[in-house]
Amino acid sequence: MTRRSAYGPLPPGPRAPAAINSIQLIRRPLESLLGWRERYGDVYTVALLVFGVGVYVCDPKAIREMMTGDQSDLHAGEANEPLSPVLGQKSVLILDGREHLRQRKLLLPPFQGSAVHNFRRVIRDVAEAEVSRWREGETFVMRDRMRALTFEVIARAVFGVTERERIERMRSALAALISMQTILLMPSRLRRDLGRWSPWGRFQRRLKAADALIYEEIERRRSRSDLEDRTDVLSMLLMARDEEGEQMNDVELSDELMTMLLDGHETTATGLAFSFDLLPRNPRALDRLRDELESDDDAYLDAVVNESLRLRPVIDAAERTLTKPRTIGGWDLPAGIRVYPAIAAVHLREDLYPQPHEFRPERFIDEDAQSYSWLPFGGGIRRCVGAALAQAEMAEVIRTVVSRVELAPTRAEPEPVVIRGVTLVPRHGTPVEVKRVSLAR
Ligand code: HEM
Repeated sequence: MTRRSAYGPLPPGPRAPAAINSIQLIRRPLESLLGWRERYGDVYTVALLVFGVGVYVCDPKAIREMMTGDQSDLHAGEANEPLSPVLGQKSVLILDGREHLRQRKLLLPPFQGSAVHNFRRVIRDVAEAEVSRWREGETFVMRDRMRALTFEVIARAVFGVTERERIERMRSALAALISMQTILLMPSRLRRDLGRWSPWGRFQRRLKAADALIYEEIERRRSRSDLEDRTDVLSMLLMARDEEGEQMNDVELSDELMTMLLDGHETTATGLAFSFDLLPRNPRALDRLRDELESDDDAYLDAVVNESLRLRPVIDAAERTLTKPRTIGGWDLPAGIRVYPAIAAVHLREDLYPQPHEFRPERFIDEDAQSYSWLPFGGGIRRCVGAALAQAEMAEVIRTVVSRVELAPTRAEPEPVVIRGVTLVPRHGTPVEVKRVSLAR
């Protein structure tokens, strides 16, 4: 069907210039996405700075159609291309088509089933060590603490590194890179290494230092004789073979490790920071969680994680570029257009989640999370590789914190949600005060 709007044959949407739409989206992402849906319907077009004109899809049925069956005409890698100087050309995030599927198939097994079960012990140890350092009366920004914690989990579970000194070296190399990440917005003609004082030159040196550490870990692990018995992701990837019996080469391995380091720790830390803003502000849910944890039943804990990721998803929208024309939600869309399955807008639909702005974990006790109406990890052939690890991590950290300490937010109002980089974050990072420690156990 072809209809017309202010965007020509594309669905209708806000007519404001890209700069205005972008500022609005960055400052008030949830309100913007919902406001546009209310005004223009389930499929709308928005012009944004950097990303250009794109179509948001807020209808779970249309999203299911996109994310099931043949998705070879939906590319996600090219939208991530600006990240390639850091992640590398072989990162699963950058690749599309057959190459993407090959890397993905090799990456998935270490993140499934029993593998993730083994990680729970590691996560609990790291969380216990972190919480045991907290003192009554202390205040801190939860997102910072959670970032340190989730980094350590990735270092241990994914890289299999346990020596403190090595973890610290990796942490500081990565922090140096992340502190310069806005440089990736620099136009490619300005990306020139003019020595150690030029921004691109400095960035290149930091990148080299981080890469060198990753290659060192690959080398060290390859030389171990107990590879087959090890449960960390790197060891499992070194043993993995594709359908042709080929291994990942060192460049592929290094690019995937860098992707997991960067993609896997900040996102989970932010998810946790949101959870620790929501829980103390919803004392009934917090009390019930404490009771249920005493009875060793994890159903409510898992529901808390699901509800937290519903109400405060870390990624507001998945992203696909059409390589061929496709009909989505009743609109004939042209090749080349970006389409965003609008995770946050779907999660706040009243018809799917009555009283959608309330934190009510019970909704996920009565009913399981449904793939296309609950999609904090995206979906289809690009669904987050680390979803099970991230959920286990959130559950174990929440378990440890809630049963060991009582926290109170230091700000009167719930954290406003804003966009930083490409993620939704609590604007102040969730500052909290430790009211009491060692509640139980
Ligand atoms: C709460 C934490 C996390 C959230 C909310 C999250 C969310 C997402 C989302 C929305 C996508 C894109 C999916 C799509 O386009 O359909 C994604 C992709 C990905 N995530 Fe996560 N993620 C989290 C944690 C992790 C962790 C812990 C790892 C690994 C250690 C990880 C590794 C990846 C990878 C490799 C991809 C690319 C998959 C592909 O392109 O095939 N993520 N994630």
